Amino acid sequence: MQSTQILKRFGSPAGLMLTVFSLGSLAYGQPAAKPAATLNIQVDKTEHSVSPTLYGMMTEEINYSYDGGLYPEMVRNRTLRDPNWNQQDWLVVQNASGGAKMDKDKTTGPSEALNDSIKLTVTSASPTEPAGLRNQGYWGYPLKPDMTYTFSLYAKGDLGGGTLSPLHVNLINNKTGKSVASAEILGIGSDWKQYTAKLHTGKIEPSEANHLELTLTKPGTVWMTLVSVFPPTYKNRVNGNRIDLMEKLAGLHPAFLRFPGGNYLEGDHISERYQWKKTIGPLVDRPTHPSPWNYHSSDGLGLLEFLEWCEDLNMQNVLAVYGGYSMKQEHVAPGKDLEPYVQDALDEIEYATGGTDTRWGAERAKDGHPAPFKLAYVEIGNEDWFDQSKSYDGRFTQFYDAIKKKYPDQKLIATAPVTSRKPDVLDDHFYLSAEKYFDDIHHYDNFDRNGPKIFMGEYATMEGSPTGDFGAALGDAAWLTGVERNSDVVVMSSYAPLLVNVHPGGMQWHPDLIGYDGLSSYGSPSYYVLSLFAAHVGDEVPASTMTGAGPRVAYSVTHQASTGKVFLKIVNGVPTPQDLEIDLSGVSAIAGPAKVTRLHALSPVDTNTITDPRHIVPVESTIPTTGTKLKHTIPGYSFELIELDTKK
Ligand code: AHR
Repeated sequence: MQSTQILKRFGSPAGLMLTVFSLGSLAYGQPAAKPAATLNIQVDKTEHSVSPTLYGMMTEEINYSYDGGLYPEMVRNRTLRDPNWNQQDWLVVQNASGGAKMDKDKTTGPSEALNDSIKLTVTSASPTEPAGLRNQGYWGYPLKPDMTYTFSLYAKGDLGGGTLSPLHVNLINNKTGKSVASAEILGIGSDWKQYTAKLHTGKIEPSEANHLELTLTKPGTVWMTLVSVFPPTYKNRVNGNRIDLMEKLAGLHPAFLRFPGGNYLEGDHISERYQWKKTIGPLVDRPTHPSPWNYHSSDGLGLLEFLEWCEDLNMQNVLAVYGGYSMKQEHVAPGKDLEPYVQDALDEIEYATGGTDTRWGAERAKDGHPAPFKLAYVEIGNEDWFDQSKSYDGRFTQFYDAIKKKYPDQKLIATAPVTSRKPDVLDDHFYLSAEKYFDDIHHYDNFDRNGPKIFMGEYATMEGSPTGDFGAALGDAAWLTGVERNSDVVVMSSYAPLLVNVHPGGMQWHPDLIGYDGLSSYGSPSYYVLSLFAAHVGDEVPASTMTGAGPRVAYSVTHQASTGKVFLKIVNGVPTPQDLEIDLSGVSAIAGPAKVTRLHALSPVDTNTITDPRHIVPVESTIPTTGTKLKHTIPGYSFELIELDTKK
């Protein structure tokens, strides 16, 4: 029954997608409307209820989603753990006498996790000729006017019998060479310690073209790591998330967040899997790790931060635990070998949900969050159908039995079909062309209603880069009509990937839902489709029939029993307008005009970009209604949400 389909996968070492699908033979323009189709909605005849968790989000560290994105640390490679540390991120600020040298010192660091550091040796410097280090940031330092940034670092110095020069901290504009915010760190001693300072910008133009300089004005040696410049965050959380991106995510009205992956959970190798215990506690105790998307992860956004992210956006937690398979065909055999991994998952669940009287619940409290979280679902692994050893059934069984024994009510998600146990939910992934999505909108219509529920944990129409174009939005909308119509079986859905840094080199996979640089962000047309779907969904699916519609017209209807609202979503995937007559039964009348929210473009390749972020956005209008009826023409290439207030 279950049919996971991935049409395209990352193929090159850089993980870039290679092909682009199109809406086939669709042409531009708006020819005469097709003959009227009729849509009858029997509002009082409910077919099934709508899952309250239907629309959520999936996230992982890909496309600089966290580092250089949602996690707004500005210092790139702040712990020097990225192997590229001395090639692009950190550079020497030299003076005329060539007085500075930078090394990575593997013999000293502030903690067991960060047991190495960057060593700055200044042999010649003065107040007019400072020398030191420069950090380039993630495509610069995105600075805004009149803003306070928090600087911090762990450091120790070699005083050489004298006093060390203050460490001068400057944010420098790349074009003018002038400092736009500065601070001094005084009294760096001979033992490792954390130092902090505030950096305040004045009347500057918002710009990413800035860098950080850390300099001395006298000869001396300073070791440093975990160098940080942090902007204000969403809800002012310490070590929190970027404000505009959190607002964009809130705009999706997500019911849940699936984290932390994706491939990011698995890692290329078992040793590179997501090891949650190394992502909690003070940042200085997080060793960082290589990720499968070809860049190093700071793990600043760790397990607790994922849970707090859910808390901030009022989302349910869908926690994926490492299931014993990594992407280079490495697996842990079920049985004794797998036991430590199962225990790790049990510990992880306890960290999230346990009381403060439990070993890991107490650890969470120590990390600043005494109140336990709830886990709506625990997912075992990711895309385990790729495991050629076919060990998933055995691995899933071992996790299932152990988790259900300790947490009998915990719902579990399998990532591939299994036969030994019945998972509560099966995660199904689809990356298809718009054409295929339109052709397959009845995919779930005949699914076994007694089998596991379906989590469409990843889907996206593969069209557009870095973010999906309008054709992709139509494909996604068409697909979602099928999902919504079958929301008794499909209990959750999440687009992937969610985020992309649009700077050159920022993307490993396309298309993505939300694009950004350091200063601003935008939603793809699909972003608006998803937002409209999630914000306007009833609690039941009424019976309905559509006749006479042309090709590539897809729709879904939901009804909100408490308010009488009927939400009709309709997609026209061809250039020809579609006339439509809508008739409601089981209600006495439609109250007032219908509210229409339309997303439309002249061509499927039209899109939103970082420089034209609102090229395609929803536009609202109304259409008159008569009794229980209305007539309407849906333009070619459009998605519409039609809201009807009904009277019993
Ligand atoms: O969404 C990008 C990747 O696609 C995910 O990491 C993986 O689960 C899937 O193959």
